[in-house]
Amino acid sequence: MNDSFETLVQQADLHSPAPETEPARQAFDLARARELVRARGLAAGRPLTARVETFGCQMNARDSEKIIGILRSAGFTDASSEDADFLVYNTCTVRDNADQRVFGRLGRAGHLKRNRPGMKIAVCGCMVQEQTNVEKIRKSYRFVDLIFGTHNLYRFPEYLCACLESEGMVIEIWDRADRIVEALPVARKYPFKSGVNISFGCNNFCSYCIVPYVRGRERSRAPRDILHECAQLAADGVVEIMLLGQNVNSYGRDLDTPCSFAELLEQVCRVEGLRRIRFMTPHPKDLSDDLIRVIAENEIIARHVHLPLQSGSDRILRRMNRRYTKEQYISLAEKIRARIPDVSITTDIIVGFPGETDADIDDTIDVVRRVGFDNAFTFIYSKRAGTPAAKMEDQVPEAEKNRLFNRVLTAVQETAHTRAGRLTGRVMEALAEEVNLKDSSLITCRLSNNMLVHVPGDPSMIGKMLPVRLDECRGFYFFGSVILDS
Ligand code: 5AD
Ligand code: SF4
Repeated sequence: MNDSFETLVQQADLHSPAPETEPARQAFDLARARELVRARGLAAGRPLTARVETFGCQMNARDSEKIIGILRSAGFTDASSEDADFLVYNTCTVRDNADQRVFGRLGRAGHLKRNRPGMKIAVCGCMVQEQTNVEKIRKSYRFVDLIFGTHNLYRFPEYLCACLESEGMVIEIWDRADRIVEALPVARKYPFKSGVNISFGCNNFCSYCIVPYVRGRERSRAPRDILHECAQLAADGVVEIMLLGQNVNSYGRDLDTPCSFAELLEQVCRVEGLRRIRFMTPHPKDLSDDLIRVIAENEIIARHVHLPLQSGSDRILRRMNRRYTKEQYISLAEKIRARIPDVSITTDIIVGFPGETDADIDDTIDVVRRVGFDNAFTFIYSKRAGTPAAKMEDQVPEAEKNRLFNRVLTAVQETAHTRAGRLTGRVMEALAEEVNLKDSSLITCRLSNNMLVHVPGDPSMIGKMLPVRLDECRGFYFFGSVILDS
């Protein structure tokens, strides 16, 4: 936790009116929340527990770390399941199945609440930036106590107090962000790696995508704040960081003193103590030569570029408002491969976009084969209300979407398998991340190119960068062994 913020919390005078400036106001409310949580814990005769369930992308994972940071700082202990005194759903709305999953889980949480007096349930994140979802929760999930959006996450201490002090449903959704508030506590999921937000929101308006509507316009954090956070993380034992933005390539254009993403990345490379730097997600339309140069020149930057293709058909790309062509994408991928040896290129592909036919899918598969993606996340197009693509008349029937999806998936699996195989026998540095979920005698490690390798070992290895030989390729991952010093 940030020391200066903790000082503000400890100095808060709860007998005076709440301060009007930030982050002093949140520090004041966090101090109040501590009192409320303590009193409730005393009344219950046990510590209060909290749980945050996260859906969606790395951005949400990072936001959840902020929410958990505040909950812990308020005095909650971590619950091992959703049966907790304070339960938060941090939601995603990028595809309809994400929404449906949250509603299913919320229904079950309602049952838990019946058996747990005083339980509070909060819903936040992208899904509740849409009015229709808020209405649905108000009508059909009336047991929910708190709803807050993506732009006002930094006010969570304030909402936490409001929620603990009242019985009604507290709803605070803003349609845009007023500022970027630094300094609130963050509880990192991993002690050795962390995400670092560099920008929030997106200005691209790809025609299928809800993100610009729920995350708002792009806002960049000041380089000074980003570098300060990276240095603090490194001092705290973090060896790997991932710089996060919806479109990292347009980072810094909105700053008073503009700074390109390549320039920022170069500065982050100089932060002492870091061993590996990742970033997510660049848009192919403006990935600069300078960025490729910076990656090539700095081994500390992961040999991995996640470059969302979405479609290989020029016709569909135009309708998606992606602003590049199939050939431009392929040349970009070739340039990256030529200048950054051993780089892995992964992608996102949407299948079943309005008007999409077998001929368009042929183009997508052609790109998959020519680029030879190391991995690809393939999604069935999901119609998002309010986006231009939702109004297109030639929506593809579900069965047809599934058929097209399977065609792409087969091609993706073939190329990924071939690509991974070429690394068999090599020795590479890998960051030991966790005990393997299926076999506890194995430790799961991550290579610079983002592939996983499972090696025999024990938990004492976790957080270390180790030389690992890739013994056996299993498609998307390897079995390997740590090379011991001779
Ligand atoms: N339907 C399906 N997939 C989508 N994505 C974004 N919007 C949609 C949608 N409406 C995918 C894109 C993006 C990834 C994060 O989610 O491929 O890159
Ligand atoms: Fe959505 Fe396109 Fe922005 Fe990515 S770049 S968040 S796909 S609008």
